[in-house]
Amino acid sequence: MVEDRSNDIESIRKRWDEHVNRYDEWYKTFEGAVEHHVEWELLKGYLPKNRDAKILDAAGGTGRITLPLAKMGYSVTLCDISPGMLNVARQKLLREGVLDKVEILECDVCKLHFADESFDFVLCWDGMIEAAKELIRVTKKGRRLSIFLMNKCSDAISKFRDDPDSALALLRSKSNYVYHDEGKHMAVSVEEARELFEKEGIKVIEIYAVCGMLELLSIPEKTRESCNWDEKSFRQVTEMLLRLSKEPSVKGLPRHLVLYGERI
Ligand SMILES: C[S@@+](CC[C@H](N)C(=O)[O-])C[C@H]1O[C@@H](n2cnc3c(N)ncnc32)[C@H](O)[C@@H]1O
Repeated sequence: MVEDRSNDIESIRKRWDEHVNRYDEWYKTFEGAVEHHVEWELLKGYLPKNRDAKILDAAGGTGRITLPLAKMGYSVTLCDISPGMLNVARQKLLREGVLDKVEILECDVCKLHFADESFDFVLCWDGMIEAAKELIRVTKKGRRLSIFLMNKCSDAISKFRDDPDSALALLRSKSNYVYHDEGKHMAVSVEEARELFEKEGIKVIEIYAVCGMLELLSIPEKTRESCNWDEKSFRQVTEMLLRLSKEPSVKGLPRHLVLYGERI
């Protein structure tokens, strides 16, 4: 699996430290709440049955997922490169009375300091295929992982909105690198993701389409950014997205894919 570390880790840390105040705020908007709900509903079905299980939330940021996991009783290790994001997580966990369930570490997910097969479940929701080898290494055999991946098709379309030749060239190329958020990232199609992970000893259970679907549903920006909404529309939209996330013909469209697999 490709291990290109083209993003300067210092600039990533700085970018997220600067972004920290806006991060949780976005999840209070309609769009943020919808995305969180869909992602969490998909995740719930794959979590270990045993609540004593050890979970790694790699690049876990402000603890958006660590917090509910800790409240469910799991022992969670939350790691991230940004001290600012981790500080917010620490305050939230303390406030909710579950800080003792969580170990917080500042580290690069591509260089984890854990022994092989340390965790019963591993998640990394930051679109980093570059970290896949490390994430797989620390997952126990027979246990599951959940990894966000940048979606090549959606990236090609959004980067080359006015240049179909370039979009198609990227889609058809063997290169998986695209430029996004001032950095160079690896993006994959559903088929490439499956192939890459299977090569590394992962039985791929399912790959879902997530993130950025509200634009595709033509939900106006004003509604997406609103912090007040009625429960009925929320339920309708989340139900629709949960169904679409599994639909093969839709999987090229959203910003991210989330892969669920089991280490063989
Ligand atoms: C989009 S946020 C996602 C946070 C969390 N996973 C979630 O879903 O809410 C991306 C996070 O990845 C972290 N990150 C980016 N590159 C990283 C790296 N190489 N090692 C550890 N964390 C990293 C950032 O600091 C940031 O907190």
